[in-house]
Amino acid sequence: MQGEILDFLKKSDGYVSGDYISQRLGISRQALWKHIQDLKEIGYQIEAVPHEGYRLLESPDRLFSFEVSHGLQTKFMGRKITYLDRVDSTMNACVRLAMENAPEGAVVIAESQTRGRGRIGRMWESPKYKGVYASFLLRPKLSPAEVPLLTLMTSVSAVTALTRVTGLEPRIKWPNDILIGHRKAAGILTELSAETDRVNFAVIGIGINVNNDRETLLPNATSLKEETGAKVSRLAVVQSLLGEIEKDYVYLRARGPEQMLKKWRALSMTLGRRVKVQGEKRHIEGEALDIDADGALLVRTDSGIREKVYAGDVIHCR
Ligand code: BTN
Repeated sequence: MQGEILDFLKKSDGYVSGDYISQRLGISRQALWKHIQDLKEIGYQIEAVPHEGYRLLESPDRLFSFEVSHGLQTKFMGRKITYLDRVDSTMNACVRLAMENAPEGAVVIAESQTRGRGRIGRMWESPKYKGVYASFLLRPKLSPAEVPLLTLMTSVSAVTALTRVTGLEPRIKWPNDILIGHRKAAGILTELSAETDRVNFAVIGIGINVNNDRETLLPNATSLKEETGAKVSRLAVVQSLLGEIEKDYVYLRARGPEQMLKKWRALSMTLGRRVKVQGEKRHIEGEALDIDADGALLVRTDSGIREKVYAGDVIHCR
C-alpha cells in the first residue's frame, strides 16, 4: 500500500487530494492518514495542507522493499524482497530463506553488512546507504558443474544494468569482477547447496559500490558516483539489475550456455590480454584465450601450453 500511495505522490508535481487517493485505493481517509504518518516516520517528507491534499517533498535514500518492487516489471525476480537495515551477510539471510522454501527469485537487500564476504575468504566492505548489497535465490535445473554459468550470467546482467543506469561502460574481469576503467566497482559471489548430481539452490550475491567517496575506497576500487561525478540512484540500480537478471536467466534457460558465453565474451576485458593468474597453489602467466561453460579461463602460457584455470585472481598486464 505504501508503494501505491507514493506512486500517486511521485506522479504529481503538486498536491494530491486525500479523497482522490483513498477512493482510488479503496481505503478510508483515516487509513490513508495513518499510512502517511508511517511513511513520514521512515523518512519521507510529506506536506499535508487542508483542502489541497498531500505533497511529497523528499524521499529518503533507502531501498525499502515497497520502493524496489513498485514499478518492477519482472515476473519472479524480486517478487519476494526481504529488506534489512543491517545484517551480517545477505548471503546467510538468503540461505535461510532458501531453507524455508522461499521461491526462486527471492531477494535479500541490506543497507549495510557487518560481515559482508567476497571471494576467496575476503571481506566485502559494506558501508551503510552507500552501496547495493543483495543476494538472490535461484533454483536452477543444472548440475553443480554448470553453476559457474549463473555467475557469468550475473556479471553480464550487472554490466547491462550499470550501463543502462549510468551510461558508463563497465566490463568484466574474469571470473566475475565488474570494472570501470581498471578499477573494481562490483563483485559477485555464488554459493551453492547441491547433491552430487543436482543443485538444490544457488544463492548469488552482488555488491556494488554506488555512492562511496574516493577516500573510503581501496586504491584499486571505484564507485559509480566517482565515475559519473554525481550521486547515483541505488533504487534505479537495484531495479535495473533485477530486470536484467530475469531476462538473462530466461535467455540462458531458453538458448543454452553457448549464447550466454557469447554475451560474456563480448563484455569481458580479460580475453585477448596478457594475464598473470594467482591460483591457490601456483601462478601462471600468458595470454587469456577464452572461457569454458564451466567458467574456467583458458590461458596459453609462454611455453605454448594451454592451461585451464578454475579459481584465482587475475592481474591484467598492461
Ligand atoms: C567479490 O568480488 O569477491 C564478491 C563480492 C560479493 C559481495 C556481495 S555483497 C552482497 C552479498 N553478501 C555478501 O556477504 N557478499 C555478497
